[in-house]
Amino acid sequence: SGLVTLDDGFVNTGSTLSGITFLDGEEGILRYRGYDIAELAEKSTFLEVAYLLIYGDLPRKPEFDAFRESITRHTMIHEDLKRLYDGFPKDSHPMATLGSMINTLSGFYTKEASDPLDPVGRELSIHRLLAKSPTIAAFSHKKSIGHPFMYPNNSLSYVANFIQMMFSVPAERYEVDPVVERALDLLLILHADHEQNCSTSTVRLVGSSRANVFAAISSGVNALWGPLHGGANQAVIEMLQHIQSEGGNIKKFVEMAKDKNSSFRLMGFGHRVYKNFDPRAKIIKKTCNEVLQKLGVKDSLLEIAMQLEEAALKDEYFVERKLYPNVDFYSGIIYRAIGIPTEMFTVMFALGRMPGWIAQWKEMIENPSAKIGRPRQIYNGSTVRPFVPAEKRG
Ligand code: CMC
Repeated sequence: SGLVTLDDGFVNTGSTLSGITFLDGEEGILRYRGYDIAELAEKSTFLEVAYLLIYGDLPRKPEFDAFRESITRHTMIHEDLKRLYDGFPKDSHPMATLGSMINTLSGFYTKEASDPLDPVGRELSIHRLLAKSPTIAAFSHKKSIGHPFMYPNNSLSYVANFIQMMFSVPAERYEVDPVVERALDLLLILHADHEQNCSTSTVRLVGSSRANVFAAISSGVNALWGPLHGGANQAVIEMLQHIQSEGGNIKKFVEMAKDKNSSFRLMGFGHRVYKNFDPRAKIIKKTCNEVLQKLGVKDSLLEIAMQLEEAALKDEYFVERKLYPNVDFYSGIIYRAIGIPTEMFTVMFALGRMPGWIAQWKEMIENPSAKIGRPRQIYNGSTVRPFVPAEKRG
């Protein structure tokens, strides 16, 4: 049925029209709804950026107040969902918990979510998703360290509330450090959307069958988990720790990353689309230095990261292939300084990407001519052959 062209890994295939995120990989430009990422990172907040991505424009005050009020109202999770944590082992990866819990939300809110074409149910479902994800994420951290769950505090901002649920304990007074709140807000903004990457394409593909939004987005969470995608932020820190434990021998690891007989890659390096620099990485590197200084944290891994970057950027292999640090290279150092454990890094990425996934899903489902995603293939298996009974197979 017509000519099928092969585009392995979708290097050149536009899968959709989209008005959400503009990305120019040659110039290192990233804009959400027309606004430059650097300007949003400096002047906006994550919740405002979420509104921008989902609804298309920056909110006027009453619009934002209503949005914030609704998100705040939905931060708690059902006590029965909370009980699901009991079934997970203490050391289960928080991405396993996050993906499962988000999928399970479809069981709790079937009525409103089952028809994605219903605008009222759709609106409620996406507010629930955005509101409950930080609670789900923080609870999985509390479970992993054996602490009681800290319920949402609705007098706090979206980000401060997450920090409170992660780090406060019932017996002690807790004040959110504004430096930490600002740093996290900025990181989440920088992760909020990135057009048709692996997880977002997954959300669109699953959503295109009109599966409910929780099912579609939990698929995105799972796609993000892989080390070539969002899982890279955890892998970067593990790599830096490994380099440190091997005596800080940067050269050895650079050589290993170049060696085609080794499967090792420099984690946090390279990008399918950015070929000169990743604008997010630039901002994160600068913020990383500032945050560590403000918090008075010294991290020897930052030193190793900077040496590694310098060595790689001087190396012909990386220059020729246009491999630069990406968003995941320095973000982990900030998360560490804030006190977020390494296994939670990809969860942080998922919390940041949530409005992007929601906006992309919404754009698709609201498009009356959107079709079910159904790629083709070029078959390269066996030609027709007769069935051979088991006893006659040689
Ligand atoms: N270290 C060493 N060599 C690399 C690396 C790396 N990090 N990245 C790419 N290369 C080489 C690759 O071996 C290939 O070499 P050759 O042409 O000799 O075969 C060439 O560069 C092109 O790489 P590719 O795998 O064809 O490029 P891609 O566009 O398919 O992959 C990537 C992009 C991000 C998956 C890849 O660069 C990578 O694996 N990086 C490390 C993982 C990482 O940091 N991922 C986070 C990406 S940004 C945030 C996100 O998406 O979540």
